[in-house]
Amino acid sequence: MHSSILPDQKRTTSLEGTKVENILLFVHILFAAIWLGGAVTSAILLNSAKNLEPGQARTIIQNIINLAKFVFLPMSVLVYITGTGLISVAGYSFGEPWISAAFAGVIISIILGVVFHARAGRKAMAAATSDNAKELTGALKAWRIIAYIDLAIITTVLALMVYKPGA
Ligand code: HEM
Repeated sequence: MHSSILPDQKRTTSLEGTKVENILLFVHILFAAIWLGGAVTSAILLNSAKNLEPGQARTIIQNIINLAKFVFLPMSVLVYITGTGLISVAGYSFGEPWISAAFAGVIISIILGVVFHARAGRKAMAAATSDNAKELTGALKAWRIIAYIDLAIITTVLALMVYKPGA
């Protein structure tokens, strides 16, 4: 009933609001799940590539680069957009600590992806193409570190979403 809704309620109880909020929450979690799944897959692929010859590693490297381009980047932007929409629809404030921290985490992860992940991918691909095993080992090691940091950031933001510290 509309008359029972308090102005400061976090989740709206009106039928329309609930529908929009639930749809937004569903797609937000779906995009986040695909993003996190992609990050885990990428870390696993990176680990498997370290024991391969440069020629064999090349295919895996190309797959990780594709994952980053076609999964990570679009999903991170979509999680950002749906998260921003949820703040308004669900009645949260941009200044809440868990929300500010989530924004920081997602932006750091996007920068990490666009700048460092991409650079590490190019280096590894160049080493694999020129059949330089030593350089490939070094490039893959640096790339793994970036992938683990990224995974840690996304997982931390997931925990922020669930526990909402300071809310
Ligand atoms: C810019 C970054 C983000 C913003 C602004 C944001 C915002 C929000 C908001 C406002 C909610 C609704 C909370 C509720 O009503 O319970 C939510 C829920 C959720 N978000 Fe995000 N989010 C962001 C990033 C992420 C990321 C990176 C993940 C996971 C990898 C994620 C996973 C979730 C999950 C699982 C929920 C459901 C939590 C629950 O219902 O208890 N979000 N998010």
